[in-house]
Amino acid sequence: MEIVFASNNPHKIREIRTMLNPGFSVLGLADIGCRQDIPEPYRTLEENALAKARFVFRQYGRNCFSDDSGLEVEALGGLPGVRSARFAGPSKTSSDNIEKLLGLLKGHKNRNARFRAVMALIIDGREFSFEGVVNGRITQEAGGSGGFGYDPVFVPEGHTRRFSEMSDEEKNRISHRYRALEKLTRFLREYPV
Ligand code: IMP
Repeated sequence: MEIVFASNNPHKIREIRTMLNPGFSVLGLADIGCRQDIPEPYRTLEENALAKARFVFRQYGRNCFSDDSGLEVEALGGLPGVRSARFAGPSKTSSDNIEKLLGLLKGHKNRNARFRAVMALIIDGREFSFEGVVNGRITQEAGGSGGFGYDPVFVPEGHTRRFSEMSDEEKNRISHRYRALEKLTRFLREYPV
């Protein structure tokens, strides 16, 4: 069965292909001729993930899934959350976002944070959603050179190094996205195709 992953990120698409039941063939947005950025206008990761999957399902009539993720900081009441990518403004970079975050946390003892990913799936017209979380803390300073986004300031629970100081494989084994994807792929492995 063909299934569309509502993304144009070849890295994510490849990763997902290796995890899915061989009965599924994963297509990216480009493979179905969708070249637009699907809007993510909502206030929760759940709503945004579902909106992207619904867009593909309605426009293209395809079984599909999509993801949305963000960093949630306890002392900031869950911010930046759904605004993670544009926390410091629409055209700002990851280092601007990090600078803003560290500024807001200055003097805060509570550095608890979590990355959260939500995957929404629409298959045979039915909607499902899967969540993955990795708890951790925000460091006092940025460091490391790997990863992306907030990786330079995030140390996962039970570890001493930041995500940016881990290899891709090491991060992927514990990441929020991987955990959500694992739930989704387990569900699809058992899905009768
Ligand atoms: P999206 O799910 O790709 O839209 O991610 C939204 C934003 O959340 C990204 O632009 C990053 O700022 C942040 N983010 C999500 N996942 C990660 C991660 O694994 N590491 C660092 N930042 C992340």
